[in-house]
Amino acid sequence: MTIRVCLAGATGWAGSAVARAIAQLDDITLVSAVSRAHASRTLGDVLVEPRLTCPVYATTQEALAAHECDVFFEFTKPTVAKSNVLTALQHGAHVVIGTSGLTDADYEEISAAAEEYRRGVLAVGNFALTVVLLQKFSEIAARFIPQWEIIDYAHDDKKDVPSGTARELAYRLSKIRSSELTVPLEQVQGVVEARGAQITGSQVHSIRLPGYTISAEIIFGMPDQKLTIRHDSGSSAQPYVDGSLLAIRKVNTFVGLRRGLDSILDLS
Ligand SMILES: NC(=O)c1ccc[n+]([C@@H]2O[C@H](COP(=O)([O-])OP(=O)(O)OC[C@H]3O[C@@H](n4cnc5c(N)ncnc54)[C@H](OP(=O)(O)O)[C@@H]3O)[C@@H](O)[C@H]2O)c1
Repeated sequence: MTIRVCLAGATGWAGSAVARAIAQLDDITLVSAVSRAHASRTLGDVLVEPRLTCPVYATTQEALAAHECDVFFEFTKPTVAKSNVLTALQHGAHVVIGTSGLTDADYEEISAAAEEYRRGVLAVGNFALTVVLLQKFSEIAARFIPQWEIIDYAHDDKKDVPSGTARELAYRLSKIRSSELTVPLEQVQGVVEARGAQITGSQVHSIRLPGYTISAEIIFGMPDQKLTIRHDSGSSAQPYVDGSLLAIRKVNTFVGLRRGLDSILDLS
């Protein structure tokens, strides 16, 4: 059985790497792609990969109306991601979300729609295996250490803050506990924003500067000792490909919203 996929963002940095990987597979096929700038062409023309014969559409609605798919893969921008995902669920597709910047409120809405349409949605803030491990190690640490802060580093033109990785990490730690603050925010003297943003029980600081690619760091602090866990991405999108393909293969095995690649991996 071949899994038929519609890939929104197929011409982008991350989406094109996933598309090129799919071109080499027998068990997954791209039936349509979404990109405004390249609408009406074939994806193979755009990516110079003749095995990708699927057409490109300007909108998700057009792509889904023209071709039935089993899985819709969202890799565009946070401004359109939620609406794309809800449209795909209405069309009966399972959904993988790679796009970052969706809020917890967005995910609540998506979760309700996934249950309503009896489809699986897998949202993964970062598909890289080393980030999955950062999340797991942090969850273990949060069981023993009650205070931590998250720092998210990225290139200066990354618009969404905090990163999907930082949001997902904060969300996951909130299931264990909220980080304690020795001085509560309302008692801070000076500019309270200097303490970062409070995201689901974690203080999160986003740095956007030339010279950075993408990194995520979490610091756990205890009296007289600290633990720092940090992930650094390189400049290619390759680390995200294997996790994306795994997500496509597994998203039809459950109903409702799951967040994080480890929800379909056995890390025990
Ligand atoms: N989860 C992960 O592991 C992971 C890894 C890498 C990136 N990301 C996230 O994935 C998203 C995409 O990143 P990227 O670096 O690949 O971005 P990118 O290079 O800018 O690519 C964006 C893609 O989306 C399309 N697009 C943008 N706006 C659109 C719209 N309104 N309607 C239809 N298509 C639209 C673009 O084509 P057109 O401009 O032609 O429309 C392009 O194909 C970001 O949110 C990023 O943070 C996540």
